[in-house]
Amino acid sequence: MDIHSLQKEFETRLSSVSDVKQLEELRNEYVGRKRGVITSLLKDIPKLSAEERGPQGKRINEFKQLVEDALEARRAQLEGAAQFVEADWSLPGHEYHVGAIHPLTLVRRRIEDIFREMGYAIAEGPEIETDFLNFTALNFPPDHPARDTQDTLFVDRLDETGKNRLLRTHTSPVQIRTMLAGKPPVRILCPGRVYRKDEFDATHSPVFHQVEALVVDEGITFADLKGTLLYFLQKLFSKDVQISLRPTFFPFTEPSADVSVSCVFCGGKGCNICKFSGWIEILGSGMVHPNVLENVGYDSEKYSGFAFGLGIDRVAILLYGIPDIRMFFQSDIRFLSQFRVIP
Ligand code: PHE
Repeated sequence: MDIHSLQKEFETRLSSVSDVKQLEELRNEYVGRKRGVITSLLKDIPKLSAEERGPQGKRINEFKQLVEDALEARRAQLEGAAQFVEADWSLPGHEYHVGAIHPLTLVRRRIEDIFREMGYAIAEGPEIETDFLNFTALNFPPDHPARDTQDTLFVDRLDETGKNRLLRTHTSPVQIRTMLAGKPPVRILCPGRVYRKDEFDATHSPVFHQVEALVVDEGITFADLKGTLLYFLQKLFSKDVQISLRPTFFPFTEPSADVSVSCVFCGGKGCNICKFSGWIEILGSGMVHPNVLENVGYDSEKYSGFAFGLGIDRVAILLYGIPDIRMFFQSDIRFLSQFRVIP
């Protein structure tokens, strides 16, 4: 039989193969080492005349290659078909793990959005600060207890001239940095991590998060502070909360006020969360102390301002009903994956 007819026959045989076993039989029949049709054709080459050997060898080898390629292609087809049949299309698909946004980041962004809308710029500062920026420029007297090592985590204590480095205890040094860097008007919001010498428990952490707001311009009054706080807190809690201000003391503001919101859970009737007072204390605020303005070279006769600071962790705890502040720092996926949106 000539090669052309052999090829036709092979193609017919191949098309009727319906599984891998039959395919292997066919392979054996054509290119098997012992009795393969093509193998014996190759073995017969030496019997041919010298002129015929070359061209005939070439034809047989081409045919062999064609057979092997066709067998391989058919095998791939048959195996693919087997897989196709075995796949169970009713199985659920692979679920990709999509990261969630940390609840503290969600709350920070929400606060930033509220203030950005009002034209505030976001300002940030370093977490390692000097004693001067964290305390002295903010009008802390030299013997103020907040400078005590009980509260402040010092990085080093190089000298007594205010060059000591420490982990900032609040975001207020960003006020000073911003004012030293430019002239009024100032309208900034400063989010960031702060540190205090506290042991970890359900309500305390040596690292937590604050946002600070500062406005300085001509003619800023306490009424501006109150109006801003009411607007901000109603937006933050998506409720018509009321606010209550009580006099307090901060070295860098005068007058100063602790601000509470009517309880976001019971609406002021009294519940566990507000400890039956109807109010939740949420932030510290006040009018920028004239000494602070003078410390940064602003004319305190011409300019006035307000500032306030609040804990992001505390707001997140309230908004989400989180029982323990430590959960923010434990990186437990079961906890973290629950937060996608602000309630
Ligand atoms: N820095 C204050 C604190 O950490 C909060 C505050 C900021 C109070 C701005 C008044 C004005 O407690």
